[in-house]
Amino acid sequence: MCGIVGYIGTCQAAPVLLDGLSKLEYRGYDSAGIAVYDGNKIQMQKAMGRLKVLEEMTQNGATLPGTVGIGHTRWATHGAPSDLNAHPHFNKDHSIVVVHNGIIENYLKLKKKLMSKGYEFLSETDTEVIAHMLDYYYNGDPLATITKVMHRMEGSYALGILFRDHPDEVYAVRKDSPLIVGTSKSGNLIASDVPAVLKYTRDVYFLENEGGYEHFMLKEMHEQPKAVKDTLTPRIKNGDVVIEELGMTDEEIRTISKIFIVACGSAYHTGVTAKYVFEKLARIPVEVDLASEFRYRDPILPENTLVVIVSQSGETADTLAALRLAKEKGVRTLGIVNVVGSSIAREADNVMYTWAGPEIAVATTKAYSTQLIAQYLLAMKFAKVRGTVSQNDFDAMIQSLERLPEQISLLLSHKENVQRFANRYLAAEHVFFIGRGIDYAISMEGSLKLKEISYIHSEAYAAGELKHGTISLIEDGTLVIGVLTQPKLYEKTISNMVECKSRGAYLMGLTTFGNYNIEDTADFTVYIPKTDPHFATSLAVIPLQLLG
Ligand code: M6R
Repeated sequence: MCGIVGYIGTCQAAPVLLDGLSKLEYRGYDSAGIAVYDGNKIQMQKAMGRLKVLEEMTQNGATLPGTVGIGHTRWATHGAPSDLNAHPHFNKDHSIVVVHNGIIENYLKLKKKLMSKGYEFLSETDTEVIAHMLDYYYNGDPLATITKVMHRMEGSYALGILFRDHPDEVYAVRKDSPLIVGTSKSGNLIASDVPAVLKYTRDVYFLENEGGYEHFMLKEMHEQPKAVKDTLTPRIKNGDVVIEELGMTDEEIRTISKIFIVACGSAYHTGVTAKYVFEKLARIPVEVDLASEFRYRDPILPENTLVVIVSQSGETADTLAALRLAKEKGVRTLGIVNVVGSSIAREADNVMYTWAGPEIAVATTKAYSTQLIAQYLLAMKFAKVRGTVSQNDFDAMIQSLERLPEQISLLLSHKENVQRFANRYLAAEHVFFIGRGIDYAISMEGSLKLKEISYIHSEAYAAGELKHGTISLIEDGTLVIGVLTQPKLYEKTISNMVECKSRGAYLMGLTTFGNYNIEDTADFTVYIPKTDPHFATSLAVIPLQLLG
């Protein structure tokens, strides 16, 4: 079994690497090697046979100066034991060097591709393929490059990697092969097993399998359980909803007679869901406005109106202008904002932060999910204070809210199902999303995600409206996605799906576990866990984000 050690710190790396490798000798090996970076050049020394040979060749590491390095003991799998086959392995201009434990199962296919691009191989190992792949995909960003390479490799691996452009960094990643990180005052280490680092530290972390995402949107989608929890948990205390930052007394809440929710894009879509939730729970009329419309239409804002401004960035120009207009008109404003200290956060009378953390992807996912949570909480708070919800229903809703993070995780862990469906439909040119009530709001976001991410034209339609003209666009094979999370509207939407099917549509259903008779109508179905129907958007949006 091979061994890996890596070091970065204030000491000379080579002696640390040799010492660490000696602690891994028990695993068996036939050759060993180290690569050390002195800030100018990555130097390497490898030798077949015992570690002693390498120690003598390098005068116990003295011939390889530098404070950053990686080392390896090899047990031959691909190619006989030899100096050339020993690790580390360089890319062509020696700017990237890698050590590897494990087996790359598709290395021959990858090697063929690299050879067709002009890459020359010095060894018979699968590992050299990794060095050249890193070279091929390198774009100045090691993390992005490694992630790309990982997505192309099949098999198991633990890797230690140095990049000449990044002299202060050692990269480590693993899939199905162990790798640990040790931290100490004089430097940090990576190793394939704990004994290699024990001389230097007892602070050891076990790296998670894989760990990288192909892009930020995927990463942020997977951060949703945490983002939702972080936004929710501090505002639920002893079974009640507590929003201290609301800055409104119960009496003031009771006097509010109208709410406007104003936002753009996906943030607007959360407002569309929130309208249904607010009106149902708190019995207050709610208007949802696109900020770019609101600001130019001289809206009538009666006294006792609350204007809720929703924005991830807190800087969207139309949304900010809408906020300023509402303030000019003298009504109370509340910002629901993700970026702390942003313009909307500063200018709104009160601000309720969503705790999604920085959202890097342009296509929003986790901020959208937290905006929903903030608005559910607000609606529940208003409902409780105004006495429009029973204590039993309120308690059950709190429980449903608290289950959301775990249910979102569950949906994310079954992504292969949606992925297979997406593969089949990637040639689609037009897609319709249909639903009623909250399901219509979900459809709007599903449609936006598909357009934005896959450049496929799509429309969200209130299911009952489709037959008033637009249904003529549905023909053989048109993909229609029916969203059916609202029990009271289920049969109605099913009948709209049947109308589409009679025109030749291919139907995907998105509904709650238990509604299995949908399979009599839909060609393919995705199920979401059961929740209070007011909160179904939080779950149904996940497969639609994945589909996008
Ligand atoms: O930062 P904001 O929430 O104000 O941005 C509003 C929209 O531009 C935004 O929600 C946009 O629609 C999404 N990024 C689309 O995924």
